[in-house]
Amino acid sequence: MEAETRIADLFSLYSAFPLLASASFGDDSLASSGSSGSLSLTIDSFSTEPVLLQKAFDSIFCDNESSWEAAQNVSRNSREEDGLANTTSLGYGEILPEAVFTIMGEIKEVHGLERGGVVYDLGSGSGRVLFAACLAHDFRLSKGIEYIESLHNAALRNLNRWKKHDVVTPEDGGPVDRVQFDFVQGDITKITTFTLSPAPTVVFCHATLFDNDLFACVQLISENSPPGTFFVMITKPLRTGLVTGIETLSYKQYRMSWGHATVYLQRRMKPIE
Ligand SMILES: C[S@@+](CC[C@H](N)C(=O)[O-])C[C@H]1O[C@@H](n2cnc3c(N)ncnc32)[C@H](O)[C@@H]1O
Repeated sequence: MEAETRIADLFSLYSAFPLLASASFGDDSLASSGSSGSLSLTIDSFSTEPVLLQKAFDSIFCDNESSWEAAQNVSRNSREEDGLANTTSLGYGEILPEAVFTIMGEIKEVHGLERGGVVYDLGSGSGRVLFAACLAHDFRLSKGIEYIESLHNAALRNLNRWKKHDVVTPEDGGPVDRVQFDFVQGDITKITTFTLSPAPTVVFCHATLFDNDLFACVQLISENSPPGTFFVMITKPLRTGLVTGIETLSYKQYRMSWGHATVYLQRRMKPIE
């Protein structure tokens, strides 16, 4: 039943948005293996049109358990059980996928982004930011670091949803390697020498509730990142200037799961050529 619903969703998606996806979904494998079958979702061109990407996102994360509301509950229950309810930095809220698509569109169209690359989310929650980013660009690696174990597990369950769809992302003629996801349960403040490895291309950080010590670690991570690395900072911008080597490219208000917030698109400065 669940598989039938998904097929119906994708049928309407493909017929409504023929540019988004070619009709190469694995009907046969689905028919033979039921809801555990894979369903290919081939994105022909990385559309920078948020509405189209939202449709694709919704077709993968279509059940209640994969919603941001569910992730928020997972986080709240976990913090209450572990006596962490008053640890402000662990508060939960999400950037909505549409904002991720728009920001990725700006990075690609205004500033330029080569194929491949590595995207991070520092405090990755249920992983939805990384899945949205990987619909908008063909990253080769997508890495999330999340402190709360139950949220980390929610990200792994979302990864299973993604894998069921067998997302293929051809661009410039021909399929590219599928993106690899690496969700790590860990602490941002414990990242060795505050250096992300492998080197990042784009880093998301929803720092709204991060305390000063945690944010100082994010600042160090940014300053240790290669020139040209993009930072998508929610609410709290990185310190800019010649000393930090960080510049602000733009800032704009976006809708979050919890209200509106300013998103700062920043970059590690490139040397003058
Ligand atoms: C506001 S939520 C953002 C969730 C997701 N990145 C998004 O924007 O949709 C911040 C996340 O950072 C996590 N977090 C807070 N402190 C952390 C730390 N020291 N190490 C890793 N994750 C942390 C929280 O548990 C929470 O899931």
